[in-house]
This record gives sequence, C-alpha cells and structure tokens, in this order.
Amino acid sequence: MSITILGIESSCDDTAAAIIKDGVILSNSIANQDVHRSFGGVVPELASRAHQQNIIPVVDHAIKKAGITRDEIDGVAFTRGPGLLGSLMVGTSFAKGFALARNIPIIEVNHLQAHVISLFIDMPDKEVKHPPFPFLCLLVSGGHTQLMKITGPLEMEVIGKTIDDAAGEAFDKCAKVMGLPYPGGPHVDKLAHQGNPERFNFAKPKVEGLDYSFSGLKTSFLYFLRDELKKDKQFIDKNLNDLCASLQHTIINILMEKLIIAARGEGIRHVALAGGVSANSGLREAFEDLKISRDWEVYIPAFSFSTDNAAMIAMTGYFKYMRKEFASQDIAPAARL
Ligand code: KG4
Ligand code: ZN
Repeated sequence: MSITILGIESSCDDTAAAIIKDGVILSNSIANQDVHRSFGGVVPELASRAHQQNIIPVVDHAIKKAGITRDEIDGVAFTRGPGLLGSLMVGTSFAKGFALARNIPIIEVNHLQAHVISLFIDMPDKEVKHPPFPFLCLLVSGGHTQLMKITGPLEMEVIGKTIDDAAGEAFDKCAKVMGLPYPGGPHVDKLAHQGNPERFNFAKPKVEGLDYSFSGLKTSFLYFLRDELKKDKQFIDKNLNDLCASLQHTIINILMEKLIIAARGEGIRHVALAGGVSANSGLREAFEDLKISRDWEVYIPAFSFSTDNAAMIAMTGYFKYMRKEFASQDIAPAARL
C-alpha cells in the first residue's frame, strides 16, 4: 500500500508544507518571513500572524507541486514543538482542520527528531545514502545543539547538549555584533571564505563530558571587539573576513571535538550532521574530512532539508504512520518538548 503524507512546519519564522510519498519527496514548499529582518531577530507576534497569512497558500502550493490531489493524502504530520507557541498553534490548528475535513489521521512531530530524520528522505531522481543504525548525529540549529545516538528510525538518545547558547545562536549573536543582518550564520559563512581562520583566537569552553557551551565564546568575541574598536573605530570593517573565518573556525572546532570523543567512546564510525547550521560550508568540510582522516562514514542532508523545512516533518510523519502512531484531535502544541 502506498502512503502519502502532508507535512506542516511552523515552529519559528518559516511557514512550510511538503508532500512525501512512500519516503520520497514530491514537493517541499516554504514561505520565509521577511517581516523580522528589520528587528534583528524573530518577533513572535509577527511570526504567528505571518503563518496565518501564509499557511493555506503554502499548503496549496505543496499539493499542486507534488502533482497530487487532496484526496490522495493519507495523513497530516505537524510540528507540535519545540518552538514559539503562537507559531506552533497555527500549524497545529491547520493540521487538525485539514485532517478532520478529510477524515484522515494527524501525526504529531518533534521538530528536533525531524531534523535527524531529514537524513532519510529519498529523492525521486537521485540516490540518497542513509546512515545505518546505530549512528551519531550532531544536531545544530538556531535553538539547539545536541549530540544524539540514533538506534532506530524513531529511537534517539541525547548524549550531549549545550548548557547555554546553541551553535546557531553563537553565529547569529556574534554576527549581530559585527553589524551583519539576521540571521547572521549564512553571512558569516560567506565572508569566512575570504578570511584567515587562524588570524584571531577566541576562548574555547571547558565543559565536562559531551556537553557544549557557547556563551563564553560570545562574550570573549564581544570583549575582543570592544577593546579593538577603542584602538581603531574601523576595526570590524577592516577585518571582517578574518573575524568571520576565525569565529567560524572556533565554533567548528568546539563542535567537532565532542563529536570525535563521543564517536570514539561509543565505538561508532557512522556520523551525521543535521539542523540549520549543517548548511555551514566549513562544518560540512570538517565532516567530509573525517572520511579521509578517520575512515568514518559521513551523512549530511541536502541543503533544502538542512534549515527548517516541512519535508522532514512529513518524513517523520511517514515513519509514525507506518507504526500507526496517531495523535488525537485534542492535542495541543508545546513550546518545550
Ligand atoms: O534549524 P534552523 O533552520 O532553525 C532552528 O530550528 O533553529 O536553524 C537556523 C540557524 C540560524 O541560527 C542560522 O544562522 C543558522 O541556522 N545557519 C547557519 C547557516 N545557515 C543557517 N549558520 C552558519 N552557516 C550557515 N551557512
Ligand atoms: Zn530547526
């Protein structure tokens, strides 16, 4: 039997819908919200309103792009959390209404679990190498940084996590200090290509075990710039590329160090990357290097499945549909899960 899932993602500032049929992506639509740009960060109230405006056109687009009709959809998967409550409510309510009208089940999805499951999405025109179980996944996004041990399609254990800021937050906050637009991560990545990663040294955290910390780096970066700007007001402009390259280099080193310790400790040589920061070209290169330097197998999702998207929600929904893990109509979204 063929299974077609509509996925809905609305946890932060992107309204997204996707169709997955038997694990293969048919469409992946997204509406980004430009409204937050001038505020230097996501404004929750504005995000909820934009989701409300975008959700129906985005779902409509995803269904048309997939070349299917609404009648062919077997289940609706939606992000239940974690995320902004007002934003989550829009996607959750839409999923409930759509499913009720069509008399099909709804499937709740944890956004973080979905980032990991993005590694299993098949493409119609390209073979995708999936990680075998068990494998380790470094999940790095704007809100989370976790090391996870994955033992089955829906079986995952957090073995390390950040005790303060997420890696994406470190990119974004430091970028903001340099006057770059929000979100700063992609800008830092781009400018870093032209810079010297060894030029500046920033404090690396000393955290026990497999946990991470990024707040010290942010402070060290801020104080360093404050001191240099006292000597030369143009310091940032003159050194922007080197600052970005050195910052990115430090964040990548911090991320890779714990991953390597974890993989050695667990005796696992299959490692994966997921979450928005996995779009970072330096981090992708550091992962690719592991193939040669350590003879490990490496798995990185396609760019379109790295940052927030609904394909990963639909894929998680597909796995849960196969297990008949459906939610009831009285389910409520959860900002923290
Ligand atoms: O997973 P995601 O789209 O949303 C959350 O669930 O948080 O991740 C967004 C984060 C932002 O912090 C953004 O700056 C970062 O991913 N990001 C990047 C890059 N592309 C997105 N960070 C560094 N380099 C990139 N190329
Ligand atoms: Zn995310």
